Parts: sequence; structure tokens; C-alpha cells
Amino acid sequence: MVCIPPHRDVVRAEVAAREDYPLPGLWQQFNYDAKGDLLYGDKRILDWVERYDAPLSVIDAAWVRRRVTELRALLDTARRHTRYPAPTDIYYAAKARMHAGVVLPAYQAGALGETSSAQDLMHLELLFKAGLLPRAFTVISNGFKLPPERLDDRKSKKGVTIDDGAPPLDRYIEDYASAILRVHAVGLNVVPILDSLDEVDWFSRRVAAPMQCGVRLAFGLTADRFGLDSVNAGFGLTVAQARKTLRRLSGHPLLHPRMIHAMVGAAEASPSLPEIVDGVRLSASLFFELKRDCPGLDTLNVGGGLPLLGDAYDHLGAFQAMMTAIQEEAARAGATSLPRIAFEPGSLIAAEANFNIMPVLAVKAQGLVGGAPILFGIVDGSFIESSIDGLLLGHDFPVIPANLANRRAYPMWLRGVTCDSMDVWPPSTVSRDWLRLPVPRPNEKLYVVVAQIGAYQESLTGKGGVNHCAVKEPAEIVIDGDRHVLIPSPNTRDQSRLMGYTRKMLNLLAPQSKAAKPEPAVAYQAGSKDMW
Ligand SMILES: Cc1ncc(COP(=O)(O)O)c(C=O)c1O
Repeated sequence: MVCIPPHRDVVRAEVAAREDYPLPGLWQQFNYDAKGDLLYGDKRILDWVERYDAPLSVIDAAWVRRRVTELRALLDTARRHTRYPAPTDIYYAAKARMHAGVVLPAYQAGALGETSSAQDLMHLELLFKAGLLPRAFTVISNGFKLPPERLDDRKSKKGVTIDDGAPPLDRYIEDYASAILRVHAVGLNVVPILDSLDEVDWFSRRVAAPMQCGVRLAFGLTADRFGLDSVNAGFGLTVAQARKTLRRLSGHPLLHPRMIHAMVGAAEASPSLPEIVDGVRLSASLFFELKRDCPGLDTLNVGGGLPLLGDAYDHLGAFQAMMTAIQEEAARAGATSLPRIAFEPGSLIAAEANFNIMPVLAVKAQGLVGGAPILFGIVDGSFIESSIDGLLLGHDFPVIPANLANRRAYPMWLRGVTCDSMDVWPPSTVSRDWLRLPVPRPNEKLYVVVAQIGAYQESLTGKGGVNHCAVKEPAEIVIDGDRHVLIPSPNTRDQSRLMGYTRKMLNLLAPQSKAAKPEPAVAYQAGSKDMW
């Protein structure tokens, strides 16, 4: 069915933006001035464009701190209202965004660390050694921690030497399990969350100093333990394996289990409040059961999956319902103490702290629907790169005009410059038919802001390197109040090198008679036909 845009709707672009995205958090951050220019707090978006050009990605460190502080306040209020006696802990899931501009402010505001790779740990070690981590900082390490022996086939075998000039593998980055022991030896309080029986075995053999650990249950969106067989978790141990592990570790002199990890569902799965509470209730009943075998358990970790604080969602109600459910399960199990509750928010902390400013290079009228033109705005960027969860999960990232918002809005689709049929916004996966944006006059340029892209988007499509159709990656500005740091876009020369446009590679591939001469490469100039 062809959808006919309502071209006869006459509404100002600002009004359309507010109607289309009735998200309280978005309008806590953005506002329009009398001229129809978009403001972020007290800063005009166009001022950044005039100074740094666009596309530009803005990361706001202060917003990260704000969300951590607000989450802390909500959890404390929920504890007071439900008389929940044990503390709550917030661990920032850095997989959502490992950028220093997000990670460090999160820790400064009181979040602890959660890692999923050796790369994360390397960042933490760096911050730790620079004295930038708060006192009593703890980090929990989730994810597969394959024993390094499993990676041994990546080492050259005895007697076989391959001399292709490639640098040796960086074992620190390769091997998450050893990285955990390494940062522990350096002095960081790191708590591996054991994910498989292999890991249990490896850590119990290798740990050299007292270390706390957790056990991850294969968990998911289910209200009863029969459902656990089919939650398709991939991560974690079955309840029977967890029990065996805890019994085994109860006599271990150095490795002390403290935490049960049972994550109900990630934010993208949008579990409803009752679903989350049912899942937490089940995790609590398992916690009290397992605690009989391992009295040292003191923390129930319910993972991430919390909706954004800026969404119209009753976070306080959810936390209170979780705490009440845990108390009820404790009473049912006859437990005398209640566990600390750990949360691992990723999206909640990172998503709103980053937006892109994209120029609309041209607005084209192509074809007619119901006698009205179909408008396409061509942006200098790619939606596949900046907001891939639109395509993957139908996530409806807000796209609002950064200027001209006093003008009338027209139904419009935005296209990335990648000429990929999927590089359109809104994509067919998002339940929104079109955007409503102003149309610039021939001597004007429209800019749009793609908001709330701080979690996962860049982590999923990658940072630096060569993007789809070599689309330009925005420069990045990290702001913290009135101070800022600019990270320029990666340069095209680095990208060519990554794609194999090196003297060595071209010599390999060229007919020998045409092999490149060994004189030094001339500096690449735009427009040059011979860049190597
Ligand atoms: C173990 C774990 N913790 C926390 C998170 C963060 O989830 P969210 O960003 O939905 O808060 C994830 C996300 O996949 C996860 O796998």
C-alpha cells in the first residue's frame, strides 16, 4: 500500500518535532530559540557548525554524570520507600560506549566498572595508573573469557616461522582472562563473572591472590525456571552447573564467589515492567537457593536493560517493584539477609549523551504521491553508520531540525550519501512513515540533529577505519560544561592504507615490470592521480 504523506498539514517544524518525539528527556536537552534555531542547553547548534563544520558528533560528559546521579537518587528513593536494607550498586556497561568521554564521567559520578573485553580492561588500567579512578572502585568482568590455551593456535608452532613483517599479536588484547589477572595484580579490584565451567576451572587454577568472583546464570526474559532452558542466553551457566561451581569454590582458598548475575533482558528487547519484575523475582529465588550452598554470596546482579531516564517510563515504580519482589522471595526462602542489588546500565547512561549534527546537502523532489512531491534530503553522512539500530532493531532515533524550525514542516525522507537503498531515514524497520522537516531555500542549508545515539551505534559499526562507501566519519567534540576537546575525522590517507593501498601491497599485486619504484611516496594531494 502506498502511504500518502499529508502534504496539506500546515504545521511549524518546531511543533512537528515536539509532536513527533514526545520524549521528556529529549526536550530536557534541546529547545528552540525565537528564530527557530535549535539550542542544546544554552548552546546554539549552528555555532558549533560555524566553528567546526558538520557532520559533527557531540558527546556531553556532563550529561553522563547527570544520568548516573539521577539513577543513584532513584535507587536510594526506592530503597527508602520499600525499606530495602542492602545497598545498590551501579556498574556502567562500557560495551555501550567505551569512549573516554562517556566512561570517565560515569565513574566520576559514582558508577563502578563493567567490562566485556580486554580492551575495556586496558582502558581501566590506564585510568587507574593515572589516578583517575575513585577510591574503592570495583570492576566486574562479564563476557566470554576463553582460557588463553584456547587461543594457542594463533601462535606460530614450533619450528614454523612466518616472517611477513606483521607485528606480533598483542596478547594483552587477545586474552581477556589473563588481562583480568593482570589488572588484579596491578591493584584493581576486578571481579570476574564466571561464564562457563572452563572459566571456573581456569580461574581456580590460576588465581594467585585473594579475588572475588561472580557466577553468571544463563538467564533471560522468563518468569519461571522451566523457561530458562529456552531463553537462548548463550552466556552463563545452567542452575545445576552454577550449584556445582559454588560448591566447588566454597573451599577455594583464594577465589571467593560473591555475586550471582542474572540479566533479564537488554534495553533493545524492551521488556515490560511486569516482565522485568517477574524475571528479577525468579533470579532472587535462585539466589536464595544457591546461597544455601555458598553463604558468601551477597550480591544479586540483574544486569542492564533499563529504559532511558528520558523515556516516559516509571523507573521508580520498577525499582520498588524489584525490591519488593526480592524481599518477598527472601521471606519465602526464610533468608535472614537481603542481597546488594547490582545494575549494569549501558544505554541508560550513554545513549542520551551523544548526538550527531548532519548537514542536508540538497533537498530533491522525486516523483509524486497523490499529486504532492516526494521530498528526499541528502545528508552528508550515513544512517547505517550513525544509527544502525534503526535497521537492526527498528529503534526510532529522534531526528529533528537544527535550524529553520520556524518554517512550515513537510514530509521528508532523509538519505545518506552512501547510495545504499537501506541508507534512508526512517528505514522501513522503524514504525514512522516519514520525518517532518523544513525545506531550505536555494541559498540556505538545513541541518538536522540525530539524537540519543550514544549507546552501541558507534560500537556496532566501528570507530575509525573505512566505512560503507567510505562515507566520512564525523569529527567529534566532547564537551564538559564550557570546556571541550575536538577529535578530527580520520584522514583519507589512513583509510587508504587500511584498505591495502600501500607500496608493499601494490608491489605484490602489480606485474613485476610495473612494480613501484622504491623512492619515498609523495604526500597525497586531493585530486592527485598518483597517491602512492
Ligand atoms: C551483561 C550485560 N550487562 C549490561 C548490558 C547493558 O545493557 P543496556 O545497554 O540495555 O543497559 C548488556 C548489554 O547487552 C549486557 O550484555
